[in-house]
Amino acid sequence: MATSSAPAKVYLFGEHAVVYGEPAVPCAIERRATVTVEQRADTQICVQANDLTLDGFTVRWGGRTDSRPDVNVPTPLVEAAMGYIDGAIEQALEAAGESGVGFDVTVESDIPLGAGLGSSAAVVVACIDAATRELGADLAPETVADRAYRVEHEVQDGEASRADTFCSAMGGAVRVQGEDCRRLPDAPELPVVIGYDGDAGDTGELVAGVRALKEEYGFAAETVESIGDIVRSGERALEDDDVEEIGRLMDFNHGLLSALGVSARTLDSMVWAAREAGAAGAKLTGAGGGGCIVALDRSERTRTALEYTPGCETAFRAELDTKGVRRET
Ligand code: MEV
Repeated sequence: MATSSAPAKVYLFGEHAVVYGEPAVPCAIERRATVTVEQRADTQICVQANDLTLDGFTVRWGGRTDSRPDVNVPTPLVEAAMGYIDGAIEQALEAAGESGVGFDVTVESDIPLGAGLGSSAAVVVACIDAATRELGADLAPETVADRAYRVEHEVQDGEASRADTFCSAMGGAVRVQGEDCRRLPDAPELPVVIGYDGDAGDTGELVAGVRALKEEYGFAAETVESIGDIVRSGERALEDDDVEEIGRLMDFNHGLLSALGVSARTLDSMVWAAREAGAAGAKLTGAGGGGCIVALDRSERTRTALEYTPGCETAFRAELDTKGVRRET
């Protein structure tokens, strides 16, 4: 039996634009998905997943795709989660040069599904790491990241960047542009506050929507390029530890994501509540459509204001994770 965990992430800058070759800077936060993998005597993959949302919904399902969970998590999300786990097991078998091995897979996670915190990347990274170790192989985090990216690419119909999976495998703040992925040398000490509306977005649909806009309108394509410019300015602000400037650029980034149609009323309300409470800046994180915003504020005012904001289900402070994928047993 082998257990690994991997962290969630927030995007400081650059989601969506990163799909088209612009840079992005996500950073890992201390919320984790933990995956335990144990070989079975047969060739079945049996998955049990608990607490895949912040509210502690319980999902249990068995077999590869033959039975449905007995509970109240939206089915498309559960199906996507199944796809990610199947893909992760396939990658682990390939990496270890094995085939026809069955596993019991148990997922525990305090990362809400589809909420912009990289739940799927964390589950895939932890699952590949645990399953390869269960098979006697040992992969470097960079290799786990690469194999996890292949899973996301496949499940998201070819529309995925390496950002989520690289960040979850490596931890800290990272810069991703196409195939060029690296950790930023000094992880910034940022006062990250997260607001969550309890909802989820469909990454595939949201990415396809941005692509369609970009193909129809030159100014949408320029908006994507402008997000790349924001990321480059954001990198300089990160080097200078200039939280006010990082916040200003996050505000700008949110405006452009809104223009590309990936925000939501609840996300905009939380962003405005954070700004009015004195946050240095706030933006949606991840694919959008619903889920989480990320704000920067050293005081408790933003978290408290978010908790009273209509549409916000919960708000919490997040510490930066520096470890990435971690072996638990
Ligand atoms: C989703 O967490 C981030 C997107 O940029 C998609 C991707 O990078 O794969 C929207």
